Amino acid sequence: MAANSSALETVDADYKSRSILDLIGLKGKVTVVTGAARGIGLALARGAAELGSDVAILDTLPEPSEDIKSWEQLGVHIKYYRTDVTQLDKLTEVFSNIRADFGHIDNCITAAGVVLDKPFHDHEWNESAKVLNVNVMGTFFCAQLASKAMKEQKKGGSIVMIASNAANVAIPSRNMSIYTASKGAIQSLTKALAVELAEYGIRVNSVSPGFIATEMIMEACRKDSDLWNVFNSKPPLGRVGTRGDLKGIVGYLLSDAAAYTTGTDVVVDGGLACGHN
Ligand SMILES: NC(=O)c1ccc[n+]([C@@H]2O[C@H](COP(=O)([O-])OP(=O)(O)OC[C@H]3O[C@@H](n4cnc5c(N)ncnc54)[C@H](O)[C@@H]3O)[C@@H](O)[C@H]2O)c1
Repeated sequence: MAANSSALETVDADYKSRSILDLIGLKGKVTVVTGAARGIGLALARGAAELGSDVAILDTLPEPSEDIKSWEQLGVHIKYYRTDVTQLDKLTEVFSNIRADFGHIDNCITAAGVVLDKPFHDHEWNESAKVLNVNVMGTFFCAQLASKAMKEQKKGGSIVMIASNAANVAIPSRNMSIYTASKGAIQSLTKALAVELAEYGIRVNSVSPGFIATEMIMEACRKDSDLWNVFNSKPPLGRVGTRGDLKGIVGYLLSDAAAYTTGTDVVVDGGLACGHN
């Protein structure tokens, strides 16, 4: 196509054809969410359901922390699969079951993660390897299984991987060296996969949350009573983040509203990465 005014008219024609509300909807889609029996993953699964997506929820816990079946009142189908993202054979079987149960896989959110908070010199091999195994290998192979399905289906897809702001800025009052390395790996993986999977119409982005009030950080607060104050005073916005603060951005990245967004990391940290007092 020559670069003349009719070329501009052709490529520009779609800007009014779908409203923002239509673009951001996920009706008819199937979203797989790992680490979603509780915490951030659960909220992101709920967000996808609110946008009209059917949702397959994966986690190691015996059952989700809330009644996910009641979400079907939103007009979507929800199913829980108890599985460990580090057990590749079982994980492969679960992805195959999801395709059989739902028909297709359009989106994947990887939220399964574990943290280790202790001085660098005290980190031991096995506990450090576990962090890398869950946070990096688990994410890597969930993205692989999801994108293999998307490639076969030939309709593209969207993958959102939960990284962490720990990969961008030293987190005050915490020692999380191996965790930080694992989340840096996710940010880098996002870029590599965005390029490699672009030819299949598969977009890959990551989200890097700051302090988000979940069991993960409440456990740390129980060990160090000053931490809650740190989480509520260090972010320039002056409060700890909530799971609800992540729902919108992840829903957007999954949706057609983000059709030209791939390989990016979105920081959701109340301004912490800008520098703090
Ligand atoms: N809470 C925060 O402040 C914060 C900040 C930045 C990033 N994150 C990241 O967000 C994600 C969710 O964290 P959260 O705060 O909701 O923590 P959480 O501990 O409440 O939830 C993590 C979930 O992952 C599941 N999980 C752990 N290992 C698994 C495995 N091998 N296979 C399948 N599921 C597994 C757990 O059972 C749990 O349900 C994690 O990747 C975490 O690193 C959290």
